[in-house]
Amino acid sequence: MWPFSRYHKKNSDQPHHPVVLITGCSRGIGLDLAKLLYDHHPEYRVIATAREKSIQKLHDQFLENERFIIYPLDVTNEDSRKEIINHITKKWGGVDILVNNAGISYRSVIEHMTAKDELLQMETNYLGPMGLIRRVLPYMRETGRGKIINVSSVAGMLAMPTMSSYSASKYALEGASESLWYEMRPFGVQISLVQPGFVNSSSFMNVYHTELSDPANNWNGPYCDFYQNMTPFVARMMQMSRTSSVQIAQIILKTMKTENPPLWIPATLDAKVFYYIRRLMPRRLLLPFLYWCLPKAQRWGKNYSHRR
Ligand SMILES: NC(=O)c1ccc[n+]([C@@H]2O[C@H](COP(=O)([O-])OP(=O)(O)OC[C@H]3O[C@@H](n4cnc5c(N)ncnc54)[C@H](OP(=O)(O)O)[C@@H]3O)[C@@H](O)[C@H]2O)c1
Repeated sequence: MWPFSRYHKKNSDQPHHPVVLITGCSRGIGLDLAKLLYDHHPEYRVIATAREKSIQKLHDQFLENERFIIYPLDVTNEDSRKEIINHITKKWGGVDILVNNAGISYRSVIEHMTAKDELLQMETNYLGPMGLIRRVLPYMRETGRGKIINVSSVAGMLAMPTMSSYSASKYALEGASESLWYEMRPFGVQISLVQPGFVNSSSFMNVYHTELSDPANNWNGPYCDFYQNMTPFVARMMQMSRTSSVQIAQIILKTMKTENPPLWIPATLDAKVFYYIRRLMPRRLLLPFLYWCLPKAQRWGKNYSHRR
């Protein structure tokens, strides 16, 4: 007996095919999840989404059919969120499983961020997912089942230099998901945070920069060492990772299938290690230890420091 049978059987003679909405399917984890479902899991009805500018990539990869549709969605746009949920409601009744996967990551120290950059980071990784969650919850509560799977990050448990805004967005997602876990418990709606650490992918090449953190503008000044060391460090860690985006997609799929998945699901080895470091290491040691682990951090900003 599959532990997820509740999702597949509304009653004994009528199989239920859960409706899955996935954000950010144009590449990376979202695309791999869409492929897994398209190729191997006809028990789900899928809405694979991408921003208008990338939607053609999805049409190039998949042929729409009665259980797999492609639809434009910009998670930062309220009209776009409303439109897609209305469309799904008309077509299939509602969303049973929401996978908030779309995300962006700024590489910038706080001093180099602007209010506009901060807003875009939060809109994409936190406010957008919250907007979608608000729209799918009524149907999930009414049907007494549903799953919300938010793709978070190790950056949602530990913050690193040059990633403040990304971390803030994932911490926000983590906090809200934890609250939602309690709020939805009486209604049978389950909430999970899939937390990848470094994934072997090229997504470090998709990072956003601000005007001042952009390498094209020749890093210089007090933060030059931060960028010069953090950028190749993150790239190296990702290239060394033994976890692929397909494996993260498989963890999301397993979460979809599990009847009572946990709230926190560390999804890479480093995510599990950091989870325990954060919990077990005394606080006064945690930051000096992590600082010591960063490449040449003792020397960062030395030529510009007036520290007394
Ligand atoms: N890969 C990692 O190492 C890693 C580690 C930890 C956590 N994560 C998390 O995992 C998730 C997926 O990451 P990934 O590595 O697969 O990233 P990715 O390869 O950069 O893909 C991100 C996806 O999000 C989409 N997106 C960006 N802004 C959007 C918006 N406003 N509306 C709708 N879609 C939007 C992108 O679509 P466009 O084509 O339209 O830009 C793209 O499809 C993210 O939430 C990320 O924070 C990844």
